[in-house]
Amino acid sequence: MSSTAQRHNLPTRLLHASLVLTVCVQLGSSLVMRIAWGSRPGNIFFPIHEYAGMAAFALAFLFWVTVIARRVGTEPGALFPWLSPARRAALRADIATHLDALRRFSLPQHDGAAPLPSAIHGLGLLLVTFMGVSGTYWYLMSQAGLGRSVFVRPVIELHGAFGNLVWAYIFGHAALGLLHHVSKNMPLTTMWSFRP
Ligand code: HEM
Ligand code: HEM
Repeated sequence: MSSTAQRHNLPTRLLHASLVLTVCVQLGSSLVMRIAWGSRPGNIFFPIHEYAGMAAFALAFLFWVTVIARRVGTEPGALFPWLSPARRAALRADIATHLDALRRFSLPQHDGAAPLPSAIHGLGLLLVTFMGVSGTYWYLMSQAGLGRSVFVRPVIELHGAFGNLVWAYIFGHAALGLLHHVSKNMPLTTMWSFRP
């Protein structure tokens, strides 16, 4: 198993771990939280969801800043290939490679710069950023007494619906990471290591 612990720099690895922690708090709290409604009281898990959610938003923002500022790691264009015709063509070719491997029930050799996994990681980061933005927007508007207005209600409903995608992303992404680890394709320490 090759040691690729330096592929992601320390700020990336620390931000990834902190973001994962806050997202786990969000998903866990969303299962048990109760929002105050009329005379019905809320429970403690709702403020936890609000504050940990705003922390997740701040961490996602810092992750984007790190992606843009760092010298080591995945290029920003690989995480967000949608605006470049050349990157979109490489993505289509990589999707074909992955489908071909899937037909043979195998995993393509792990390549840190591969277009498909990078694009999916970028979508995951975008999704978590959207969750943070939409939740914080709802929070600020609710403070101003506009939480149920026509400008806010659809946004928080979308937040609830996209929460399902966060579940799918975290399970799918973690399962693939574990699969690569046990098949000795890529050690988990590529991302889960706190060495300088
Ligand atoms: C990464 C950040 C976040 C994640 C992953 C997340 C995840 C979720 C999930 C999974 C649900 C439940 C959906 C359902 O079962 O219907 C939910 C609901 C909710 N979240 Fe978040 N959340 C985040 C940030 C926030 C923030 C920052 C706030 C507000 C400060 C917030 C406020 C709410 C509210 C009000 C609901 C209830 C929505 C409804 O009425 O359907 N969330 N969130
Ligand atoms: C919702 C939570 C998560 C989000 C938003 C997320 C996001 C990301 C992003 C954006 C990257 C690419 C970073 C870069 O290339 O600069 C990445 C890579 C990685 N993530 Fe996650 N992640 C999450 C959860 C997890 C979990 C639970 C695991 C546990 C197995 C994990 C394991 C990894 C690994 C091993 C890599 C490195 C992949 C490689 O270098 O090819 N992630 N993650």
